Amino acid sequence: MGRLCFFFFFLSIILSLPIIFPAVAALPLHTSSRWIVDEAGQRVKLACVNWVTHLEAVVVEGLSKQPVDTISKRILSMGFNCVRLTWPLYLVTNDSLASLTVRQSFQSLGLSEAIAGFQANNPSIIDLSLIQAYQAVVSSLGANKVMVILDNHISKPGWCCSGSDGNGFFGDLYFNPDLWIQGLARMATLFNGVPNVVGMSLRNELRGPRQNVKDWYRYMERGAEAVHSANPDVLVILSGLGYDKDLSFIRNQPVNLTFTEKLVYEMHWYGFSDGKSWESGNPNQVCGRVVNNMMRLSGFLLEQGWPLIVSEFGMDLRGNNVNDNRYMNCFLAWAAELDLDWAIWTLVGSYYLREGIVGLNEFYGVLDWNWCETRDASFLQRISALQSPFQGPGLSETSLHKVIFHPSTGLCVLRKSMLDPLTLGPCASSDSWKYTPQKILLVRGTYFCLKVEGLGKPARLNIICSDPNSKWEAISDSKMHLSSKVGNDSACLDVDSNNIIVTNTCKCLSRDNMCDPGSQWFKLVDSTRSPSSAESLR
Ligand SMILES: *[C@@H]1O[C@H](CO)[C@@H](O)[C@H](O)[C@H]1NC(C)=O
Ligand SMILES: *[C@@H]1O[C@H](CO)[C@@H](O)[C@H](O)[C@H]1NC(C)=O
Repeated sequence: MGRLCFFFFFLSIILSLPIIFPAVAALPLHTSSRWIVDEAGQRVKLACVNWVTHLEAVVVEGLSKQPVDTISKRILSMGFNCVRLTWPLYLVTNDSLASLTVRQSFQSLGLSEAIAGFQANNPSIIDLSLIQAYQAVVSSLGANKVMVILDNHISKPGWCCSGSDGNGFFGDLYFNPDLWIQGLARMATLFNGVPNVVGMSLRNELRGPRQNVKDWYRYMERGAEAVHSANPDVLVILSGLGYDKDLSFIRNQPVNLTFTEKLVYEMHWYGFSDGKSWESGNPNQVCGRVVNNMMRLSGFLLEQGWPLIVSEFGMDLRGNNVNDNRYMNCFLAWAAELDLDWAIWTLVGSYYLREGIVGLNEFYGVLDWNWCETRDASFLQRISALQSPFQGPGLSETSLHKVIFHPSTGLCVLRKSMLDPLTLGPCASSDSWKYTPQKILLVRGTYFCLKVEGLGKPARLNIICSDPNSKWEAISDSKMHLSSKVGNDSACLDVDSNNIIVTNTCKCLSRDNMCDPGSQWFKLVDSTRSPSSAESLR
């Protein structure tokens, strides 16, 4: 089985879009205003995937299916440059747990199949202690130039999170603040001098009835200082209240730390963070409302000059969850516009044991059940534009312009020539656009502007740009319909089944909740990336 997977792995590399192996950063990292930068001051955009080690077995998931090195290489080949690697506090505060071997841990849970698979795929790790096995994973990622954020996900090993699981807030049954600070310091010390460990996420998703702002400052500041004094190289990453949604309290009371240029915030945003709103509401309205709320709760930190990582987002990759599908279009547009650092949930194709189920299939996982193929290759293509920075320190290859990003495909509007219609293609080859105060969309450095020819017809480039049909406004509550006029009608930018950019009647502007505007959602995103084509028409 292992060999067969190996074959699929290379086949998928050959068949997939060009793989861009991210440039290797000069570590350690630090912050410069809202950006994370390397030693040279150049922006490093963290495009991470969450990899789980905090369930009952306390063994990184997937090693019964594939060799650790194969998985590390796979992470890189999928375009990620970093892993948010979860760990339970008790791994470093309970010596009898830390000293169990992988085999013993599986045995105690009756996971004989996992033992057999692990033995076959990772014989050199199975008899290591749990903490040594964790270190071996970090070291394999390091050998493959993958950065790591150590994420303290929970105290007592097990699936996370509920408000009443005893792991939610300082003082809960399994969450002794002093033990937590000790554990953070131990972990920071253990990985001091391990260059690919670039950050520590102090605690995942604080929550539950005990949560309060006063204790948040008291313990988060102590935790941050403990980590920094044990390991001054790592970024110190703080999460908010209410399942890592709410950092609004920082607006009026900054965190008080003795060190600078290492503090980063994290937030989480899923479709289900807003219940079933996406499915039951009109997506334009929900997107507008939820984005405003996110800006109020955490997005404002960017404006205040702090980096913000969306350290969890994701969707059911089977594609049939309407709530998730609608949310993801809105999320990707927002993440592109703000050029955020992020970590997707999750790498995991299946778990050894989750919530009592052996071999549980993870439908949010980018790998399939066997950790063999990707669950949905088109989704990886869709997030690929977000895997490299649009802008930031040290990246000004060309002056600031716009790209026209289409979140439901992850592609951008581009032209092959004057005569060919505009199409969607990789954002890396996007034209540079300029959006003028007169609301004209010009191909930068030319006189060509985008123009409506008629409903159902391709949008064209023209040099007569003063007519109403070459003025574009971002309309609807989502502000993602690019709309112009044809006669008395409004026309919205859209994409047809041949991937041609056309204009159609604007969709879903009413309160209709049965309507999905996704194909008509476009986002003008600031970029200083150099366009790699379309120079010939100047
Ligand atoms: C420490 O770990 C061992 C082995 O998993 C477990 O039996 C014990 O209950 C743990 N102790 C505490 C205080 O959690
Ligand atoms: C910040 O922390 C320092 C050292 O712990 C303390 O002296 C100072 O009063 C604190 N400042 C604020 C505004 O709380």
